[in-house]
Amino acid sequence: MCGIVGIISSKEVTGRIVSSLKKLEYRGYDSAGIATLVDGNINEVKCEGRVDTLEKDIGKFNLTGNIGIGHVRWATHGKPSKINAHPHSSDQVSVVHNGIIENSTILKKFLLKKGYLFKSQTDTEVIAHLVTEYLKANPLKDTIIKVLKKLNGSFALGIIFKGQNNLMVGARRGSPLAVGYGLSENYLGSDSYALKSMTNKISYLDDGEFCIVKQDEIEFFDTHGSKVNKKVMNLSKNEINNDKGDYKYFMEKEIDEQPSTIKSCINEYVDKYNNQINIYNFPWKISSIKSVMLIGCGTAFHSCLIAKYWMEQNTTLDVSVDIASEFRYRKVRFKKNCLYIVVSQSGETADTYAALDLCKKNKMKTCAVVNVVESSIAREADLVLPIYCGQEVGVASTKAFIGQMLVLYILSTKISFDQKCITKREYQAKIKNLLTLSNTAQKTLKLDQKIFNISKVFANSKGTMFLGRGYSFPIALEGALKLKELAYVHAEGYPAGEMKHGPLALIEEGMPVVVLAPRDEHYKKTISNMQEVIARGAKVLLITNKNKDEVISENVWEEIKVDKLDNELIPFLMTIPLQKLAFYSALEKGYDIDKPRNLAKSVTVE
Ligand code: M6R
Repeated sequence: MCGIVGIISSKEVTGRIVSSLKKLEYRGYDSAGIATLVDGNINEVKCEGRVDTLEKDIGKFNLTGNIGIGHVRWATHGKPSKINAHPHSSDQVSVVHNGIIENSTILKKFLLKKGYLFKSQTDTEVIAHLVTEYLKANPLKDTIIKVLKKLNGSFALGIIFKGQNNLMVGARRGSPLAVGYGLSENYLGSDSYALKSMTNKISYLDDGEFCIVKQDEIEFFDTHGSKVNKKVMNLSKNEINNDKGDYKYFMEKEIDEQPSTIKSCINEYVDKYNNQINIYNFPWKISSIKSVMLIGCGTAFHSCLIAKYWMEQNTTLDVSVDIASEFRYRKVRFKKNCLYIVVSQSGETADTYAALDLCKKNKMKTCAVVNVVESSIAREADLVLPIYCGQEVGVASTKAFIGQMLVLYILSTKISFDQKCITKREYQAKIKNLLTLSNTAQKTLKLDQKIFNISKVFANSKGTMFLGRGYSFPIALEGALKLKELAYVHAEGYPAGEMKHGPLALIEEGMPVVVLAPRDEHYKKTISNMQEVIARGAKVLLITNKNKDEVISENVWEEIKVDKLDNELIPFLMTIPLQKLAFYSALEKGYDIDKPRNLAKSVTVE
């Protein structure tokens, strides 16, 4: 959600800022902008829309410079427009900002009284004017300390100053910010992706810190201005996978990659020769954990919901699940014998990070299930369990969902064995089943053509419902979320047994409804619920799995059958047709599949 890049160098920086912004575009794509110093003066180019447009505009204006800051925006205050795009500049400074300044209205009043004029509707513009105001009576470092004290809310900032070709400032509270070390040049970036093409040496600012970045030196300070030393980290060599290969869309590629990401993830955790699960560095005795709290947002939250079913089924743990933005403000009764597991693809989601931070402050045991291992969440948690699915570019989470479920399933199975809830034989049977998952997922991908045809009805419907019981309920939620975010169709995920308590009133003639009914212990009940919606006019797409006693479900509109597999693993297979359904529905409507409207890949504001 918004991306920052800054470069100070002896060489021209504009082109490199633009290519870094392209790598950050997954974070925000409402508008983009860049400011550089030319002969000590601030010059900016901004546009509504994508970095490609910015690049063309930069060409027109022939923007150059050896120091500059750039930004991709995901609007919070003020609609997406050229005027609201960052950087925001006064006659003295230019600022890029990720986050939200919560007291911007009060600060704006103060600055208006001082005679400052505002061009945009953003909260960020106050920072530019505040810095300008304090610079009148203070040296640069004191100005930064004073300004940061005045700001409430969350921010990562990059600032350049008129006449100061030799430095830029970075600051952080809440939103992450990294600095990168180069040869006679240094960098600022909202995450490591921004910097990877330029350096593999980076440091992260801790909360409340700021830095003064020069060509050959970077100084770090705490809130009070005392110097702090920073550890320099080596980034892994993995470049951003910005290559779609033969695919037109990242999402399609990422769905199809799932069999191989399942394999990679299993390879990391399962020792096939000894038929056992290895979770190295597990820092606690299993007997010290009596309960688990799983926390996440969006798709990651859905993976937490599924894990609750697995853990309750197979372990003695007491399992709770919460949405991070709720958890962080609840009066949580923290328990010493509870393991707090946060789940996040990006590892930068502000609410999830805050939930983790709260657990850390209360000295709880914490575990992070993440994809980006260099992320803020991964750096903070006691135990990190990566999902090993490679970079996910499409805003709609697909392979990361499968990866999150997989790691949580593996963890649950391991705990179940360690707690002696299952025998060695049962444990090894579960592992054996797991090892077949990748191949069965591959077969599920082949159901493509049927889903393509069905998707036209969903794409053009006014509203839809996704129903399931047990493991299939969280998958129903996930299927509905995918359709909402990609095809902009109103979709509700509901427990099938709950329909009669209200939502049944929504069903009308011809309404497409997805019913997830694997051949598990809920099958018959779900089929009865399905008949209730069919009786009221719904057009049902039934997703089930193959079984020897084939039952032709009466009155269903369409039926999709995934392969037979252990009931616990069926959620993985059920997910795939739903991802495809959302993908083809968006395709049918001609929407921007990898960058749906109003959304961002990394949600770094609360
Ligand atoms: O990076 P995270 O896993 O923490 O992101 C959480 C949600 O923002 C994310 O899953 C979101 O719901 C996706 N766009 C869903 O496809």
